[in-house]
Amino acid sequence: MPENRPVRAPDLAAKKQNGEKIAMIAAYDVTMARLFDQAGIDVILVGDSLGMTILGYDTTIPVTLDAMVHHAGAVSRGTKRALVVADMPFLSYRITDSEAVRGAGRLIQEGGAAAVKLEGAGLVAGTVKRLVDCGIPVMAHLGLTPQSVHQLGGFRAQAKGANGAQQLLEDALALQEAGAFALVIECIPAELSRRVTAELRIPTIGIGAGPHCDGQVLVSYDMLGLYENPPSFVKQYAQLRSDITRAAKEYIDDVKSGR
Ligand code: KIV
Repeated sequence: MPENRPVRAPDLAAKKQNGEKIAMIAAYDVTMARLFDQAGIDVILVGDSLGMTILGYDTTIPVTLDAMVHHAGAVSRGTKRALVVADMPFLSYRITDSEAVRGAGRLIQEGGAAAVKLEGAGLVAGTVKRLVDCGIPVMAHLGLTPQSVHQLGGFRAQAKGANGAQQLLEDALALQEAGAFALVIECIPAELSRRVTAELRIPTIGIGAGPHCDGQVLVSYDMLGLYENPPSFVKQYAQLRSDITRAAKEYIDDVKSGR
């Protein structure tokens, strides 16, 4: 694929077929989107993790569709090449399919996203099919699904036993059948990721799920050392909290001393 051609949803399956790994990042504003886009990231996820990183909540549950549309707009205005995917927030796709279509439509029409991401399986597979039938590309998300944090009993690793692993594999196949173009798998054993990745035609994108996925995703605030409590599996590529604190202190000193 030429370096500057925009990445489209079907390109991710082609990357899997060609053995090219997919690099994805969760970002929420125009400046960060521009930097990652210019660095060559394939996919920018406007993640509902912005509930924690930007809005100061403990979970993603309070995030509204309006907030997601607002941040999707900022990210898409800063992005020329990467595929912009926006999270559908808690319950926005679980009540009726019509509501899901309207919500996804807002993320695409008003927010400028090219695809949406939904957590879970079961009834959600039917909603994925409905959205795909409307021409909306859908990324699925299994394993640790943060919108179900209360049901899961915390942000913890999933599908550790044989039954859980089998269920996850069946759910992944059902979501592929429903038309999802890619699957995020979060906090599951590396061996299970390897199995799911081998069984699926569509690419898997892992987070805390080992090296065998077709791609990887991290939250920008975690990998840049901005967020105070990143998950333990995150590799930090920068320490921006200490850089910003040092710069802020230098600035305050300059102002106070009249320099
Ligand atoms: O909201 C988010 O940032 C996500 C990623 C962690 C996959 O869903």
